[in-house]
Amino acid sequence: MLANDPFWFKDAVFYEVPVRSFFDSNGDGYGDFRGLTQKLDYIRDLGVDCIWVQPMYPSPLLDDGYDIAGFTEIHPDLGTVNDFRLFMDAAHARGLKVIADLVMNHTSDQHPWFQEARRNPNSPKRDYYVWSDDPAKYSGTRIIFLDTEPSNWTFDPVAGQYFWHRFFYHQPDLNFDNPEVWREMFDIARFWLNLGLDGFRCDAVPYLYEREGTNCENLPETHGFLRALRKMVDSEYPGKIMLAEANQWPEEVIEYFGTVEQPEFHMGFHFPVMPRLYMGLRREDRSSIVDILRRTPDIHESTQWATFLRNHDELTLEMVTLEERHYMWDEYAPNPRMRSNLGIRRRLAPLLDNDRGRIELLNALMLSLPGSPCIYYGDEIGMGDNIWLRDRNGVRTPMQWTSDRNAGFSTAGQLWAPVINDPHFGFFHVNVYDQRRLSGSLLNWTRRILAVRKEHPAFGRGSMEFVLPEQKEVLGYIRRYHEDVVLAVVNLSPRFQQASLDLSPFLGATVTDLFDRSPFPDVTESAYSLTLQPHGYYWLQLSM
Ligand code: NOJ
Repeated sequence: MLANDPFWFKDAVFYEVPVRSFFDSNGDGYGDFRGLTQKLDYIRDLGVDCIWVQPMYPSPLLDDGYDIAGFTEIHPDLGTVNDFRLFMDAAHARGLKVIADLVMNHTSDQHPWFQEARRNPNSPKRDYYVWSDDPAKYSGTRIIFLDTEPSNWTFDPVAGQYFWHRFFYHQPDLNFDNPEVWREMFDIARFWLNLGLDGFRCDAVPYLYEREGTNCENLPETHGFLRALRKMVDSEYPGKIMLAEANQWPEEVIEYFGTVEQPEFHMGFHFPVMPRLYMGLRREDRSSIVDILRRTPDIHESTQWATFLRNHDELTLEMVTLEERHYMWDEYAPNPRMRSNLGIRRRLAPLLDNDRGRIELLNALMLSLPGSPCIYYGDEIGMGDNIWLRDRNGVRTPMQWTSDRNAGFSTAGQLWAPVINDPHFGFFHVNVYDQRRLSGSLLNWTRRILAVRKEHPAFGRGSMEFVLPEQKEVLGYIRRYHEDVVLAVVNLSPRFQQASLDLSPFLGATVTDLFDRSPFPDVTESAYSLTLQPHGYYWLQLSM
């Protein structure tokens, strides 16, 4: 990756890290920035380019830190601003970029702004939040945390009014109609960018504004604010990036990229494609993946999708039909404890029954589809989950470094969350130390596939065209960037498939396997025939 290339994010692989769960340097049971700094070589050696650090700010931790009580400080459990600065320097020294969560939609009710606002109706902070005497306002708005929240309004007895919140009742939404809130957000962004941060994963961006008669999502006013923020970033911090968390349909998400003249985000997560990868695998049918990608409009070449298989939240099923949601719950969440809101709170390896072939297959898909992939910490070693922990904490347990006490995460007597210790996924079997030494481990496989991906700009920058053989079980596509042409083919079924592909546009091309450089037959006038192993995949280079 060229450090000075403003489009570095297009080739990058991201790695999502909750600092609290990664490595504890001082034995207090909480991961911290010094611990994360000690593990930077591990992250670099994995072959990722950019770390996404989850909320690191003071917080009562009722929403894993997305409930912020101080925007320009570091949570004392995680260290100090100076520790953060040292971490940034150490990451940059290794050629790693770092982005962090910027949560603009809401604060914790413990934030001093809210504390002042609720106590004093005349305080300028009162208008930082959205108040009403009438909880019937904005009734066209859905509730996101369906499991716990009966309404988007909560009555605050101190203020004597209702306040608006799209998430938990203890997370009041900020009022973006107030120019002071704009100013605060700009200054918060500046604070972290001045410390060297390379950009932000912007949380919950569709919900910034409220307007009667709408669903209060993706409003023009919201885009107006976001474009202004981008303008500030571009003019004051050129090269820094903004990644949107907008869990919406492709038609809506593309609005978050803005236009060439008025850009908004550099990157946006592609939420709808994610559950369809799991669906395609289970149904042994490529059609839902093909359909959603066909439904995804082209985006400008200065922007990029972010793809992922899992993250710190439930595997969201907001962007599927009702029938598809029930299918996913039935197939992937048979125990009700596995469900959460409209999703599934499980990790990648347990979702796929720890089946190595299927874990590789979904990774090979994610890593070759358009977009920059984002890997969730621990999935590179096949970590498990604990569905008995509250909320989504079951997928946020301490990283498993060794088979020693506390998985080598900490020397404390008590950890902030228990390590996974079950017979299949416990740290005794699943840990970095062992997987480093076993050449066939998932960790070493992940390193190899990331290294192969890095050699081919077609993955990050290329166009995509489907090459679909007769069998619905087989999905093929060409990724092409100038001379770099890669054919990716995956077999979604647990049976051998003999596929015939139409590669006529590449007549005469030589074909080489990207993993072991072994030669395949050249492309001739006949259909190109490939035998795929059960859940097998190919990445083949086509050279003219
Ligand atoms: C999106 C975050 O990904 C999620 O973890 C959080 O609960 C909500 N925003 C609300 O803060």
